[in-house]
Amino acid sequence: MKLATPAQMKEIDEIAIKKFGIPGIILMENAALNVVKAAAGMLRECGSAKITLIAGKGNNGGDAFAAARHLMKKFDVTVISLAERDKVSGDAGVFLNILEKLNADIRYCTNSHSAGELKEIINGSDLIIDGIFGTGIRGEIKGFYADVISIINESGKRVLSIDIPSGIDGETGQICSIAVKAEKTVTFSLPKPGLYQYPGREYSGDIVIADIGIPPQAIEQAAIAGELLDEDFLLRYIPERPADGHKGTFGKVMIITGSKGMTGAGTLAALSAFKTGTGLVYLAVPQSLSPIYGTTVPEAVLIPLKDNDGIISDTETDFLLNRAAGMDTVVIGPGLSAAPEIQRLVNGFVADCPVPVVIDADALNVLDIEVLKKRKAPAILTPHPGEFSRLCGLSTESVQKDRCRKAIELSKNTGAVVVLKGAGTVIACPDGKYYINTSGHNCLAVAGSGDVLAGMIGSFAGMRVTPEMAACLGVFIHGRCGEVLAGKSYGQAGYRAGEIPPVIPYVIGNMLW
Ligand code: APR
Repeated sequence: MKLATPAQMKEIDEIAIKKFGIPGIILMENAALNVVKAAAGMLRECGSAKITLIAGKGNNGGDAFAAARHLMKKFDVTVISLAERDKVSGDAGVFLNILEKLNADIRYCTNSHSAGELKEIINGSDLIIDGIFGTGIRGEIKGFYADVISIINESGKRVLSIDIPSGIDGETGQICSIAVKAEKTVTFSLPKPGLYQYPGREYSGDIVIADIGIPPQAIEQAAIAGELLDEDFLLRYIPERPADGHKGTFGKVMIITGSKGMTGAGTLAALSAFKTGTGLVYLAVPQSLSPIYGTTVPEAVLIPLKDNDGIISDTETDFLLNRAAGMDTVVIGPGLSAAPEIQRLVNGFVADCPVPVVIDADALNVLDIEVLKKRKAPAILTPHPGEFSRLCGLSTESVQKDRCRKAIELSKNTGAVVVLKGAGTVIACPDGKYYINTSGHNCLAVAGSGDVLAGMIGSFAGMRVTPEMAACLGVFIHGRCGEVLAGKSYGQAGYRAGEIPPVIPYVIGNMLW
């Protein structure tokens, strides 16, 4: 499903209204009906529940006014307008008019003098419907608005947010100084990136994506670059496995890996490539350590390399480039160390690598962006936020605050597909397209998990999936493996990265059948 930033959603709304002639008030009514449905679902156990809708002065508040009219038929409803009566206009004003004519219980709580009344109403409610701010939020929330949000959060009451929790930036998922913490969010037409990036993801609770009658033609006319990664979307990109395929059919993947004390990384990447479906895995490793890999992954072909005290010698660069020519893809980085020789090896290799290359872990730490830009074949970078910030010379905090934009910038700048890892992994492409992953579980936050992911992405790339889709498939399936593991666990934690690969065939099989 496509992702729309607040600006893109505004554009889509305008196309629907102006080009297709759908009155905005119809869209607002449809939005409201979806809020009503969600609220009724949340309250199905308590028929005489008390609902308080809190409306701001924008269209998000209008959605709340429209929903109130329907909810009044079944529930005890109080409507709180945070804007004075004469500040509510347009479609929102129409719905407020109707409420007035229906003698709805409307309170105007517009400044701190109303805080006591507001608190009392909220504390006496079974459900709060949050229509304070939607995607129109800008800058920080201050004063009375901030007080209202903290009263809601401190009340411990159940909260349903309209479109997006008030105070969450719909583009980045960042908190505009304070935000409503919702149990459920009904978002309209298309999901917003900020609902799937932390902390926005956490504040949104369960997310319902509701059709409000915007025609697909209106969405097609808007310039949308984002896509939410889910199973339905990815299914068609899983490579076919011909019945008469041989090991070469299923890809040759070389993993350049290993240093003293870091042999587990390459082992995990190799196991994961096999379990994703690769036919042949080659482990290019320090000669002095190669017997270890012979034991940990006996199925892999070993390419022992000259090493100095366990660090691969950079004199092996040309040899590796020659070997790479016979592969479908290469993974470089897991467990390599950041020694000066590795810096020369990685940059020399990336510059001339003739096949798609997944650049991970230590290789990212020594990578020269200028070399990356001049490389000859497609590349996929798989940084976690720390690696990303080092690579781009930014603070981790600034990267995390605007993950999609930062990943897109790096991808455009280097021409490489960028996988910015972390909860809500972002995959960005040089043409500006980006994806946000929806699968995952925090049991994946464990040493070696990234090595497994690199092996999976390399495996798909080796099966001739495009770099973009290899990254998306690897990320989604890796996340789903975490969900499966957590589902099996007693405490949802306590897994080693080595337990991820055995789950991969099960996850892929389930997607296909
Ligand atoms: N502090 C105080 N007021 C603010 C702030 C802020 N930090 N940021 C924005 N506002 C004000 C704006 O001036 C505007 O009056 O809040 C209002 C914006 O409210 P929204 O309802 O979020 O924006 P709007 O564009 O009117 O509506 C978008 O409508 O389609 C529905 O629910 C859907 O989220 C969507 C919403």
